[in-house]
Amino acid sequence: MANVTIMDHPLIQHKLGIMRRKTTSTKEFRDLVSEVAMLICYEATRNLPLHDIEIETPLCQTTVKEIEGKKLCIVPILRAGLHMADGMLILIPNAKVGHVGLYRDEKTLEPVEYFCKLPSDAADREIFVVDPMLATGGSAVAAINLLKKRGITKIHFLCLIAAPEGVERLTKEHPDVDVFIGNLDERLNENGYILPGLGDAGDRIYGTK
Ligand code: PRP
Ligand code: URA
Repeated sequence: MANVTIMDHPLIQHKLGIMRRKTTSTKEFRDLVSEVAMLICYEATRNLPLHDIEIETPLCQTTVKEIEGKKLCIVPILRAGLHMADGMLILIPNAKVGHVGLYRDEKTLEPVEYFCKLPSDAADREIFVVDPMLATGGSAVAAINLLKKRGITKIHFLCLIAAPEGVERLTKEHPDVDVFIGNLDERLNENGYILPGLGDAGDRIYGTK
Protein backbone atom coordinates (compact mmCIF):
# COMPACT_ATOMS: atom_id res chain seq x y z
CA MET A 1 0.00 0.00 0.00
CA ALA A 2 1.41 3.40 -0.95
CA ASN A 3 2.49 5.70 1.79
CA VAL A 4 0.98 9.17 1.25
CA THR A 5 2.15 12.12 3.38
CA ILE A 6 0.22 15.37 3.16
CA MET A 7 2.29 18.21 4.59
CA ASP A 8 0.49 20.41 7.07
CA HIS A 9 3.36 22.71 7.98
CA PRO A 10 2.34 26.38 8.39
CA LEU A 11 5.24 27.60 6.22
CA ILE A 12 4.11 25.41 3.34
CA GLN A 13 0.47 26.48 3.69
CA HIS A 14 1.50 30.15 3.80
CA LYS A 15 3.78 29.94 0.77
CA LEU A 16 1.22 27.97 -1.27
CA GLY A 17 -1.30 30.68 -0.41
CA ILE A 18 0.95 33.26 -2.08
CA MET A 19 1.55 31.04 -5.09
CA ARG A 20 -2.18 30.55 -5.70
CA ARG A 21 -2.83 34.29 -6.10
CA LYS A 22 -3.09 35.28 -9.75
CA THR A 23 -1.26 38.55 -8.98
CA THR A 24 1.92 36.76 -7.82
CA SER A 25 4.79 37.60 -10.20
CA THR A 26 6.75 35.07 -12.24
CA LYS A 27 9.88 35.68 -10.17
CA GLU A 28 8.09 35.33 -6.85
CA PHE A 29 6.25 32.22 -8.04
CA ARG A 30 9.48 30.60 -9.27
CA ASP A 31 11.29 31.31 -5.98
CA LEU A 32 8.38 29.88 -3.99
CA VAL A 33 8.40 26.64 -6.03
CA SER A 34 12.00 26.09 -4.89
CA GLU A 35 11.29 27.06 -1.29
CA VAL A 36 8.26 24.77 -0.88
CA ALA A 37 10.13 21.92 -2.60
CA MET A 38 12.93 22.34 -0.08
CA LEU A 39 10.49 22.09 2.82
CA ILE A 40 8.82 18.97 1.40
CA CYS A 41 12.25 17.47 0.71
CA TYR A 42 13.11 17.79 4.41
CA GLU A 43 10.17 15.51 5.26
CA ALA A 44 10.63 13.17 2.28
CA THR A 45 14.20 12.35 3.32
CA ARG A 46 13.30 11.65 6.96
CA ASN A 47 13.58 7.86 6.67
CA LEU A 48 16.78 7.60 4.67
CA PRO A 49 18.99 4.89 6.18
CA LEU A 50 22.01 6.05 8.19
CA HIS A 51 25.18 4.28 9.22
CA ASP A 52 27.94 5.08 11.72
CA ILE A 53 31.36 6.39 10.72
CA GLU A 54 34.37 7.30 12.83
CA ILE A 55 35.70 10.86 12.57
CA GLU A 56 37.97 13.20 14.50
CA THR A 57 36.59 16.46 15.86
CA PRO A 58 39.18 19.13 16.81
CA LEU A 59 39.02 17.59 20.32
CA CYS A 60 38.61 13.83 20.05
CA GLN A 61 37.57 10.83 18.03
CA THR A 62 33.83 10.14 17.80
CA THR A 63 31.13 8.32 15.88
CA VAL A 64 28.79 10.29 13.61
CA LYS A 65 25.96 9.37 11.27
CA GLU A 66 26.17 9.35 7.48
CA ILE A 67 23.47 8.60 4.88
CA GLU A 68 23.98 5.05 3.68
CA GLY A 69 24.56 3.90 0.13
CA LYS A 70 25.08 5.85 -3.02
CA LYS A 71 24.07 9.46 -3.31
CA LEU A 72 20.47 10.39 -4.01
CA CYS A 73 19.04 11.22 -7.42
CA ILE A 74 16.42 13.88 -8.15
CA VAL A 75 14.33 13.43 -11.29
CA PRO A 76 12.32 16.52 -12.26
CA ILE A 77 9.51 16.08 -14.77
CA LEU A 78 10.09 18.85 -17.34
CA ARG A 79 9.39 21.64 -17.43
CA ALA A 80 7.80 22.57 -14.13
CA GLY A 81 9.72 20.08 -11.98
CA LEU A 82 13.04 21.84 -12.72
CA HIS A 83 12.57 24.54 -10.10
CA MET A 84 11.59 21.99 -7.46
CA ALA A 85 14.90 20.25 -8.19
CA ASP A 86 16.77 23.54 -7.69
CA GLY A 87 15.28 23.91 -4.21
CA MET A 88 16.06 20.32 -3.27
CA LEU A 89 19.67 20.68 -4.44
CA ILE A 90 20.18 23.35 -1.78
CA LEU A 91 19.56 20.64 0.85
CA ILE A 92 21.18 17.75 -1.06
CA PRO A 93 23.92 19.43 -3.10
CA ASN A 94 25.64 16.15 -4.06
CA ALA A 95 22.54 14.54 -5.52
CA LYS A 96 22.64 13.45 -9.16
CA VAL A 97 19.89 14.80 -11.40
CA GLY A 98 18.04 12.89 -14.13
CA HIS A 99 15.43 14.45 -16.40
CA VAL A 100 12.17 13.13 -17.79
CA GLY A 101 10.43 15.28 -20.41
CA LEU A 102 6.66 14.90 -20.58
CA TYR A 103 3.85 17.22 -21.56
CA ARG A 104 0.13 16.72 -21.29
CA ASP A 105 -1.75 16.64 -24.59
CA GLU A 106 -4.28 19.44 -24.17
CA LYS A 107 -7.17 17.42 -25.66
CA THR A 108 -6.63 13.88 -24.38
CA LEU A 109 -4.79 14.97 -21.16
CA GLU A 110 -2.51 11.97 -21.81
CA PRO A 111 1.25 12.48 -21.22
CA VAL A 112 3.57 12.60 -24.25
CA GLU A 113 7.22 11.64 -23.62
CA TYR A 114 9.94 13.69 -25.34
CA PHE A 115 13.08 13.24 -23.23
CA CYS A 116 14.67 10.86 -20.73
CA LYS A 117 18.24 11.10 -19.44
CA LEU A 118 19.21 9.42 -16.17
CA PRO A 119 22.49 8.69 -14.37
CA SER A 120 23.83 5.30 -15.55
CA ASP A 121 23.74 3.93 -11.99
CA ALA A 122 20.26 5.32 -11.21
CA ALA A 123 18.99 1.83 -10.27
CA ASP A 124 21.38 1.85 -7.25
CA ARG A 125 20.07 5.18 -5.95
CA GLU A 126 17.07 6.51 -4.01
CA ILE A 127 15.10 8.42 -6.63
CA PHE A 128 13.00 11.54 -5.90
CA VAL A 129 10.65 12.29 -8.81
CA VAL A 130 9.42 15.89 -8.60
CA ASP A 131 6.61 17.78 -10.31
CA PRO A 132 4.62 20.66 -8.77
CA MET A 133 1.22 19.36 -9.94
CA LEU A 134 -0.39 15.92 -9.60
CA ALA A 135 -3.62 16.41 -11.55
CA THR A 136 -4.98 13.35 -13.40
CA GLY A 137 -1.80 11.53 -12.36
CA GLY A 138 -1.00 10.61 -15.98
CA SER A 139 2.40 12.36 -16.04
CA ALA A 140 3.57 10.98 -12.68
CA VAL A 141 2.50 7.44 -13.58
CA ALA A 142 4.20 7.65 -17.01
CA ALA A 143 7.43 9.05 -15.52
CA ILE A 144 7.57 6.28 -12.92
CA ASN A 145 6.82 3.66 -15.59
CA LEU A 146 9.87 4.93 -17.49
CA LEU A 147 12.06 4.64 -14.39
CA LYS A 148 10.84 1.15 -13.52
CA LYS A 149 11.54 -0.03 -17.10
CA ARG A 150 15.16 0.93 -16.41
CA GLY A 151 15.30 -1.24 -13.28
CA ILE A 152 14.76 1.58 -10.75
CA THR A 153 12.87 0.46 -7.63
CA LYS A 154 13.46 2.94 -4.79
CA ILE A 155 11.14 5.74 -5.86
CA HIS A 156 9.58 8.68 -4.00
CA PHE A 157 7.25 11.24 -5.63
CA LEU A 158 7.02 14.86 -4.42
CA CYS A 159 4.51 17.48 -5.55
CA LEU A 160 3.29 20.85 -4.28
CA ILE A 161 -0.42 20.39 -5.02
CA ALA A 162 -2.44 17.26 -5.79
CA ALA A 163 -6.00 16.45 -6.80
CA PRO A 164 -7.66 13.43 -5.17
CA GLU A 165 -8.07 11.90 -8.66
CA GLY A 166 -4.30 11.99 -9.24
CA VAL A 167 -3.45 10.58 -5.83
CA GLU A 168 -5.84 7.70 -6.41
CA ARG A 169 -4.40 6.87 -9.83
CA LEU A 170 -0.77 7.14 -8.73
CA THR A 171 -1.18 5.05 -5.58
CA LYS A 172 -3.22 2.42 -7.47
CA GLU A 173 -0.70 2.04 -10.29
CA HIS A 174 2.44 2.41 -8.14
CA PRO A 175 1.56 1.27 -4.60
CA ASP A 176 5.28 0.86 -3.80
CA VAL A 177 6.06 4.59 -4.28
CA ASP A 178 6.06 6.96 -1.30
CA VAL A 179 4.13 10.14 -2.11
CA PHE A 180 4.67 13.55 -0.47
CA ILE A 181 2.12 16.31 -1.14
CA GLY A 182 2.23 19.99 -0.15
CA ASN A 183 -1.56 20.31 -0.18
CA LEU A 184 -4.43 18.06 -1.26
CA ASP A 185 -6.86 20.25 -3.20
CA GLU A 186 -10.56 19.71 -3.92
CA ARG A 187 -10.88 18.30 -7.44
CA LEU A 188 -10.15 18.60 -11.14
CA ASN A 189 -12.18 20.86 -13.42
CA GLU A 190 -13.50 19.75 -16.83
CA ASN A 191 -10.14 20.67 -18.46
CA GLY A 192 -8.08 18.63 -16.03
CA TYR A 193 -6.90 21.62 -13.97
CA ILE A 194 -6.72 21.39 -10.20
CA LEU A 195 -9.23 23.47 -8.20
CA PRO A 196 -8.54 25.76 -6.47
CA GLY A 197 -4.98 25.01 -7.66
CA LEU A 198 -2.63 27.67 -8.95
CA GLY A 199 -3.13 27.49 -12.72
CA ASP A 200 -0.56 26.07 -15.11
CA ALA A 201 2.62 25.62 -13.08
CA GLY A 202 4.99 25.59 -16.09
CA ASP A 203 3.49 28.75 -17.56
CA ARG A 204 3.64 30.53 -14.21
CA ILE A 205 7.29 29.53 -13.60
CA TYR A 206 8.48 30.56 -17.06
CA GLY A 207 6.01 33.36 -17.82
CA THR A 208 4.85 31.65 -21.02
CA LYS A 209 1.22 32.75 -20.82
C1 PRP B 1 1.85 19.89 -15.90
C2 PRP B 1 2.50 19.53 -14.58
C3 PRP B 1 2.53 18.03 -14.64
C4 PRP B 1 1.26 17.71 -15.38
C5 PRP B 1 0.24 17.25 -14.36
O1 PRP B 1 2.78 19.81 -16.91
O2 PRP B 1 3.75 20.13 -14.39
O3 PRP B 1 3.65 17.51 -15.32
O4 PRP B 1 0.82 18.91 -16.01
O5 PRP B 1 -0.92 16.83 -14.98
P1 PRP B 1 -1.39 15.31 -14.95
O6 PRP B 1 -1.27 14.84 -13.56
O7 PRP B 1 -2.81 15.39 -15.43
O8 PRP B 1 -0.53 14.53 -15.91
P2 PRP B 1 2.45 20.21 -18.44
O9 PRP B 1 1.96 19.02 -19.17
O10 PRP B 1 1.59 21.43 -18.46
O11 PRP B 1 3.89 20.50 -19.04
P3 PRP B 1 4.94 21.68 -18.71
O12 PRP B 1 5.53 21.38 -17.35
O13 PRP B 1 5.95 21.54 -19.79
O14 PRP B 1 4.22 22.99 -18.72
N1 URA C 1 -0.98 21.01 -14.70
C1 URA C 1 -0.84 22.23 -14.14
O1 URA C 1 0.20 22.90 -14.32
N2 URA C 1 -1.84 22.71 -13.38
C2 URA C 1 -2.96 22.01 -13.16
O2 URA C 1 -3.85 22.50 -12.43
C3 URA C 1 -3.09 20.74 -13.75
C4 URA C 1 -2.07 20.26 -14.51
